[in-house]
Amino acid sequence: MDTIILGIESSCDDTSAAVIRNGVLLSNVVASQAVHESYGGVVPELASRAHQQNIVPVVHEALKRAGVEKEQLSAIAFTRGPGLMGSLLVGVSFAKGLARSLNIPMIDVNHLQAHVLAHFVKESEEDTDQPKFPFLCLLVSGGNSQIILVKAYNDMEVIGQTIDDAAGEAIDKCSKVMGFGYPGGPIIDRLARQGNPKAFTFSKPHIPEYNYSFSGLKTSFLYSLRDWLKDDPDFIENHKEDLAASLEATVVDILMDKLRKASKALNIKEVAVAGGVSANTGLRNAFHDHAKRFGWKIYIPKFSYTTDNAAMIAITGYYKFQDKDFCSIDKPAYSRVTI
Ligand code: KG4
Repeated sequence: MDTIILGIESSCDDTSAAVIRNGVLLSNVVASQAVHESYGGVVPELASRAHQQNIVPVVHEALKRAGVEKEQLSAIAFTRGPGLMGSLLVGVSFAKGLARSLNIPMIDVNHLQAHVLAHFVKESEEDTDQPKFPFLCLLVSGGNSQIILVKAYNDMEVIGQTIDDAAGEAIDKCSKVMGFGYPGGPIIDRLARQGNPKAFTFSKPHIPEYNYSFSGLKTSFLYSLRDWLKDDPDFIENHKEDLAASLEATVVDILMDKLRKASKALNIKEVAVAGGVSANTGLRNAFHDHAKRFGWKIYIPKFSYTTDNAAMIAITGYYKFQDKDFCSIDKPAYSRVTI
């Protein structure tokens, strides 16, 4: 019998629903929220209101595109956390209500685990290029920078993580002080392509193990900028491409240094990247470079799976369904947790 999972994602500012049949993606619908742009960041209250407006049409559209009736669903998987509480509540409540009305299991999904398992979404039966266990996954987003040792679908260990800012957060904040738009990541990426990554040097952290720190880089960037602006008030405008390229190169170096260290120490050459920052061109290039230099087998997600999406929630739900790892109706949403 077919296993058909509806996935629902509402942890931040994207409302998404996806349908997966036997591990193969049938539909993945994402409604992004433009309402936050003028505020320079996600406004939680506006995000939850937009989720409320979007959730019914998005789920409806996902089922329609998949050609699946809701009565055919085997289970409903939903992001239970981490994320913005108001946003999560919309998806969690909707998913529980729908599962209850259909009398099918509900499956709670950890959003961070789902980013890792996005690498297992098959777009067709022939799609078999997936990481082999154990593998390392660099999870880099606006809120997280982690190195995860993935031993199985349901067995992941965070072996390193940021002790302060996340990589995406550092890029976004540096972009903001330069007066660029929101979010800064894609803007810095675009500018960096025309700049010299060696034009400026910013400080790199020296912290133990496989952990990261990005707040020192942020401070070093701000202080350097302040000094340069004293001499030339148009410094940012005159050097924006070089500033972006040097900032991006420093973030990528910091990320890859620790990932290389982990790969070497654990002798694991299957290496994946996930999360919003995995869309970054410099980081993607660094992965290809490491594949050539160190014989890594790399897994880089399609752009549609770098941002928040329900396909990754549905595939995680699919594996949990096989383990009969269901959730009871009284399990609440949670805003914070690691893997
Ligand atoms: O995973 P994600 O969509 O959600 C959050 O954790 O919020 O990640 C968003 C982050 C933001 O910091 C954004 O600036 C960054 O991903 N980002 C990028 C690029 N595209 C998105 N960073 C660098 N280069 C990009 N092309």
